[in-house]
Amino acid sequence: MRIAICTGGGDAPGLNAVIRAVVLSARHRGWQSYGIQRGYEGLLSFNGVVPLGSAAVRGITHLGGTILGTTNRGNPFRYVMRDDEGAEYEVDRSDDLVAAFHASGFDALVSIGGDGSLQISHQLWCKGLPLVCVPKTIDNDVSGTQRSFGFDSAVSTATDALDKLHSTAESHDRVMVVELMGRYAGWIALYSGLSGSADVILLPEIPFDMDKICEKIRSREAAGRHFSIVVVAEGARPKDGTVELVERRGVGTVDRLGGIAGKVARTIEHHTGKETRTLVLGHLQRGGSPTTYDRLLALRFGAAAVRAIADGDFGTMVGLNGPDITRVPLEQVVGRSKNVPLDCDTIVTARQLGISLGD
Ligand code: F6P
Repeated sequence: MRIAICTGGGDAPGLNAVIRAVVLSARHRGWQSYGIQRGYEGLLSFNGVVPLGSAAVRGITHLGGTILGTTNRGNPFRYVMRDDEGAEYEVDRSDDLVAAFHASGFDALVSIGGDGSLQISHQLWCKGLPLVCVPKTIDNDVSGTQRSFGFDSAVSTATDALDKLHSTAESHDRVMVVELMGRYAGWIALYSGLSGSADVILLPEIPFDMDKICEKIRSREAAGRHFSIVVVAEGARPKDGTVELVERRGVGTVDRLGGIAGKVARTIEHHTGKETRTLVLGHLQRGGSPTTYDRLLALRFGAAAVRAIADGDFGTMVGLNGPDITRVPLEQVVGRSKNVPLDCDTIVTARQLGISLGD
């Protein structure tokens, strides 16, 4: 058996651990593994297929990023080309990809990616490509699994940042507004906001009211707490407003979210008179070593993907469900973003601790 491995979309801590687990457990069965570099680009645009023996994956479990490289502009169904004037247009190169896959003599593909990559994988599976997916995203918004690897590391980085911001906010009697990633799901903001003792947490799932936020800051002031920490998810929006975008992207790609922290901070300063600063934590949340939790999850996912291939269980995604790693058909995963349930225990806990959720 010849197994191809591909990492697509934004990187996340734990990618290398998955690659290592796939390579070693495939090798355990006497199979060979190959890495496709930079998403599907390695098959579509250049000779980017590398053999992955045990030496290639030695000592990489704890490393952030991906040894294969990745891109979020490599959708083979909406492949972006440029004409002579430099204008972008899309072509469907999925048939080229399937042909290149078979020409390379591969028997199966392990596709490691988030919602966008899973969608592409599902379409490729419908074209007959034998593949198994592994859910990756710091956003934790993939359905069919309680966790995607990368999330725990991002939460840990964000919590650490909130801990550090407390001392400077308190020293200066300031409000600090911290913008965290997560796209249209508030998992990172909620988990790190609660763990990092934020006073206000704003999530995409709960459109916020600026009056309520200012009220919370004023009540802290009245109680002698002259500083506040406000966590805002990049996909959060006011009750009567829309999600802030840094960039509306062109063909074949997704919009970039961002900018809500600045808006919230300006309004807080205007209405409360409190000196306010913003921090956009950005890609720091995607960098660095995976936490122990993410390493273990990534290793389990990688090994489980190889077991699924051995069973011929293609068109599936491995996922964490309770103590078990299960397999979910891709059609039950794609197009269903997993958001924070408003009645979940973590939301209830935040409210009972007096944290304002802006509603
Ligand atoms: O999906 C992961 C993620 O980090 C999101 O949280 C964020 O909105 C997006 O990717 C940023 O993407 P890019 O790397 O293109 O800036």
